[in-house]
Amino acid sequence: MTERVVSGDLNSVDREQEAQLRPQNFSEFIGQNKVIDNIDLMVKSALMRKSAMDHVLLSGPPGLGKTSLAMLIAKALGSELHLVSGPAIEKKGDIAAVLTNLKPRDVLFIDEIHRMHITVEEILYSAMEDFRLDILIGQGASARTMQIDLAPFTLIGATTRSGLLSNPLRDRFMAHLNFDFYEPKMLAKILFNNSLKMGIDLSENAKMQIAQRSRGTPRIANRILRRVRDFALVNHSKTIELKEVEAALSLLDIDSLGLDSMDRKILTVMKHYYQGGPVGIEALAATLGEDKQTIEEVYEPYLLKEGLLLRTPRGRALSEKAINHIL
Ligand SMILES: Nc1ncnc2c1ncn2[C@@H]1O[C@H](COP(=O)(O)OP(=O)(O)OP(=O)(O)O)[C@@H](O)[C@H]1O
Ligand SMILES: [Mg+2]
Repeated sequence: MTERVVSGDLNSVDREQEAQLRPQNFSEFIGQNKVIDNIDLMVKSALMRKSAMDHVLLSGPPGLGKTSLAMLIAKALGSELHLVSGPAIEKKGDIAAVLTNLKPRDVLFIDEIHRMHITVEEILYSAMEDFRLDILIGQGASARTMQIDLAPFTLIGATTRSGLLSNPLRDRFMAHLNFDFYEPKMLAKILFNNSLKMGIDLSENAKMQIAQRSRGTPRIANRILRRVRDFALVNHSKTIELKEVEAALSLLDIDSLGLDSMDRKILTVMKHYYQGGPVGIEALAATLGEDKQTIEEVYEPYLLKEGLLLRTPRGRALSEKAINHIL
C-alpha cells in the first residue's frame, strides 16, 4: 500500500517519529479546550479524592490527539498507562489478563473500542461498574460464576465512530468527549512548537500554508512538516519559505483545499459517475474499490466538515463547492 500523506491514519514511519513530537505536558497540547477543561477537572478531582479517575470516552477522526491525551492524563495522575487495541483482544481470557494486571488507579486505554468483540465487551460491563470480573466456569448444570475483585482503575476508550458503540458500553463512561478538527491557527501553534523540536526555521507564511493544508489534523501537519524539512535539507535552504512548502505539497499531491488524490478521487467519481449524487455509501465504496468503513471513518468526516460532501436521506451528494473544485 502506498503512503497516504493526507490520511490521518498511522503508518510505521509515523509511529517512530510521532513519539518525538507527541506533547509531553498539557501546555504542549494545543486546542480542544472543551475536552481539556473537562479532563483538567476530572484529573484534579481524582487526585483530591485519591481514587481512580472516572471512565472517559474520547471520540473523533484519526490523528486529532486521542492517544496523546490519554498519555498526558496518565502522567498527570501519576499512574501507569496500559495501551491495548480493541479488535486485537480476541478472547475473554485476554481481557481478563489485562484487567487483573491493573494496579489501583492505573489507566487502561482501549483504542478503536467500537471494534471490540462483543464477548470481550461484556466482560467490561462489570469491570467498569463494580471493578469486578464475572467469569463463567464450566458448562451446563455444573456451570458457576466466579467473581474476582479488580483494582479500581480508569478506562479511557478511544473511537473514531462513537455512533457504533453499544448502549451498555456507552452508558458506563462518565464523560463523552468529542475531538473537533483543528483551526489553522491552532495547527500553526503546533507546527511552531514542532519546528523548534526538530531544529528547523519556518517562516510565518510557510507555517500558515502548512496549517491551512493539513485537513485540520495535527498528524497530517506533522507529516507535511517532515516532508518540507526533507525538501529544504536536500535543497540546502536555511529557512523554510513558502516556495519550499508549495513544492513539497505539490510533490505530495496535496491541493489548495488540503485534499489528496484519494479525496479528489471520491469527489471525481461522484461528479462523473453519479452526476453529483445522491449515491449510497455501498455503491460509492464498490466503485472506488475501497472499504465502506474506511470511507466513513477516514475520508468522509473532513469532506463533510468542509461542506464538500453533503449527507442526504438518499445518500451522499456533492455540494456546489465540490462541483466547482473538481474538474
Ligand atoms: N492537541 C495537540 N497538540 C499538539 N500535538 C498534537 C495534538 N494532537 C495531536 N498532536 C500530534 O499529532 C500526533 C497524532 O496524535 P494522536 O496519535 O494522539 O492521534 P489519535 O487521535 O490517537 O489518532 P488515531 O485515531 O489514529 O489513534 C501526535 O503524535 C502529536 O504529535
Ligand atoms: Mg491513537
